[in-house]
Amino acid sequence: MKSKTAIYPGSFDPITHGHLDIIERAAKIFDRVIVCVMYNSAKKYLFSLEERAALIRECVEPYKNVEVDCFDGLLVEYAQQQESNIIVKGLRAFLDFEYEFQMALTNKHLDNDIETFFMVTNNKHSYISSSLVKELVKLKGEVSDFIPHNVEEAMQKKFEEGCI
Ligand code: COA
Repeated sequence: MKSKTAIYPGSFDPITHGHLDIIERAAKIFDRVIVCVMYNSAKKYLFSLEERAALIRECVEPYKNVEVDCFDGLLVEYAQQQESNIIVKGLRAFLDFEYEFQMALTNKHLDNDIETFFMVTNNKHSYISSSLVKELVKLKGEVSDFIPHNVEEAMQKKFEEGCI
């Protein structure tokens, strides 16, 4: 059987335990998972593409079939480059569905071979988002339940530099 590579794309600004939960579960299903740090043109970022990828690399160290990459372009183009037709996305709540549905259909329109697999986010993380974490750090709220320690340190540094 051909080995299956799945792409897990996102902004990851920053990565949270919610994203890591999806990565861990996807790594059990697919032979290889590539976490691809990308740009969403609607967003302004705190961390650069490389900074976001470096933080994720530290977090996914234990998973031997997970890789981290960056790409500044179309997701379907990246998938073609990796010879993968599988995109994994996490669904947090019904609210996410319409937007994710629109993206999945657009990607399918751009490349009919692309299949998007939705994984339901763990209940524990279904209400968190990267923006929420940034807001908490800005207001000196407790974030250790939402993000890994290395991410917390990197956010603290950004806060001290006046970026948040
Ligand atoms: N746990 C916790 N939070 C989660 C989560 C999970 N499992 N899954 C998603 N989220 C959060 C994210 O942190 C993000 O929070 P934020 O809005 O506060 O930053 C939010 O949910 C939305 O996530 P997502 O829908 O994955 O958006 P994104 O901005 O992270 O990623 C891209 C979108 C980058 C994948 C998309 O813009 C893209 O494909 N860009 C490449 C260019 C392209 O091909 N464009 C055409 C697409 S049709």
